[in-house]
Amino acid sequence: MKTVMLAALLCIASPFAYAGGDAGAGAQKSKACAACHGADFDTPVSADIPVLAGQHEDYLARALADYKSGSRKNPVMSGQAAALSAQDIADIAAYFSGLPGKLKVIRLHRLVQ
Ligand code: HEC
Repeated sequence: MKTVMLAALLCIASPFAYAGGDAGAGAQKSKACAACHGADFDTPVSADIPVLAGQHEDYLARALADYKSGSRKNPVMSGQAAALSAQDIADIAAYFSGLPGKLKVIRLHRLVQ
């Protein structure tokens, strides 16, 4: 009984439990996004387009939800996010956050000499 309760608690506490994003589905749903953000989502096609690979999952989900609601305004991304459902956003955020990339490998000794 204690083991079952502990397992249930661990599930609730898991950082992956809250969003319900499916990274595999996110990979399918984000193919068009690669035109600007780069095929690996780590090498955007221009300097004013952000890197998405390895970004925090909750940050990505928040950014997309904010573009969709209009609380974050950008002519390009508002159009991109308009068609996304809450599940699409969760899936895409799960996919991008799991990708390897520049954002993922930042280490303190590189920033502070
Ligand atoms: C036509 C080019 C283009 C396409 C296609 C595009 N994006 Fe973007 N994206 C941008 C630009 C430019 C920004 C920066 C906007 C800003 O300053 O808010 C951005 C910003 C973002 C951000 C915020 C990143 C951050 O660091 O705050 C996310 C998340 C994002 N895009 C996801 C997507 C997803 C998901 C798709 C596909 C459904 C997509 N983008 C398609 C150009 C594009």
